[in-house]
Amino acid sequence: MQDLRDKYIAAIGEASDEAGLEALRLAAVGKKGEISLKMRELGKMTPEERQIAGPALNALKDEINAALAAKKAALADAALNERLKAEWLDVTLPVRTQRQGSIHPVSQVTEEVTAIFADMGFAVAEGPQVDSDWYNFDALNIPGHHPARAEMDTFYMHRAEGDNRPPHVLRTHTSPVQIRHMEANGAPCRIIAPGRVYRADYDQTHTPMFHQVEGLAIDKDISMANLKWVLEEFFSAFFEIDGIKTRFRASHFPFTEPSAEVDIQCSWEGGQLKIGEGDGWLEVLGSGMVHPKVLRAAGVNPDEWQGFAFGMGIDRIAMLKYGIPDLRAFFASDLRWLRHYGFASLDVPTLHGGLSR
Ligand code: DAH
Repeated sequence: MQDLRDKYIAAIGEASDEAGLEALRLAAVGKKGEISLKMRELGKMTPEERQIAGPALNALKDEINAALAAKKAALADAALNERLKAEWLDVTLPVRTQRQGSIHPVSQVTEEVTAIFADMGFAVAEGPQVDSDWYNFDALNIPGHHPARAEMDTFYMHRAEGDNRPPHVLRTHTSPVQIRHMEANGAPCRIIAPGRVYRADYDQTHTPMFHQVEGLAIDKDISMANLKWVLEEFFSAFFEIDGIKTRFRASHFPFTEPSAEVDIQCSWEGGQLKIGEGDGWLEVLGSGMVHPKVLRAAGVNPDEWQGFAFGMGIDRIAMLKYGIPDLRAFFASDLRWLRHYGFASLDVPTLHGGLSR
């Protein structure tokens, strides 16, 4: 019995894997194992012999089983340690430098515009892209017969047969957000409203969907002088060039009186456009003092309140700032274009951290 014990305890100690251990278990305490066979012989013994051999064999069996279990646990521990060593990972390594995705110039510029106007106290307002013709036209002093409706190449939504209400439209500009915002919040207010707009037009500088940002500031004593300061402040911050000059040209919009188109200073030397220098001018937006009829349509008393509004193309100023020649490429989802013109996703534009770098 002592030989059996020594043989198996030594073999279990030397076993190097689970399969070897299982073979030893079968050889010792399996159905036909050596110790099991010895236990079967108990029946042939005299009661006196049995009283000694029985407990001894049981104790041996328990000892072997315990040694097998201990060795099995030790092998599992060793295997786990091996795996941990092989699958070791340095979580302090820097993240991969290759850019996986990038921020679209339209998103980047929208963030830049928002950061600059937020710094001047403008909140961001939003409105629906499918709007009624009341918000898109009438409330903005563009009645049914007005030529501006035709000029805007409006997309009309489908109406069911027999439904004679005026159809909804895909908004042709962000100006309806002025009405919705004043209707809901009254005066005073100071907002910008960036977003998608739609017109049936397509060439190098026009796409059926593009982006505008509307500006609106209403208070007791807001004037064109405030408008000019805000816009010059904006352009200098946006193009990251100090003291960009603007030129206001008298114009006409149904929703403003007086109205002005605004140009920024630029040069075209050697066929290359440079913003903020030279004696050329580039048109960038429409603006003016909000028409009393527009205030009234939005539930604001024009005898008490006044203010300015402006509307600007986001894609257009993105093209100017980042030297992008063709508007259509913005919406073509060409990965090569996106990699070239896209921005790193962790570089959120802020005034303190830098807008574009
Ligand atoms: N809504 C005009 C357009 O899409 C742009 C515009 C002009 C907006 C003058 C204004 C404004 O708020 O005052 O062409």
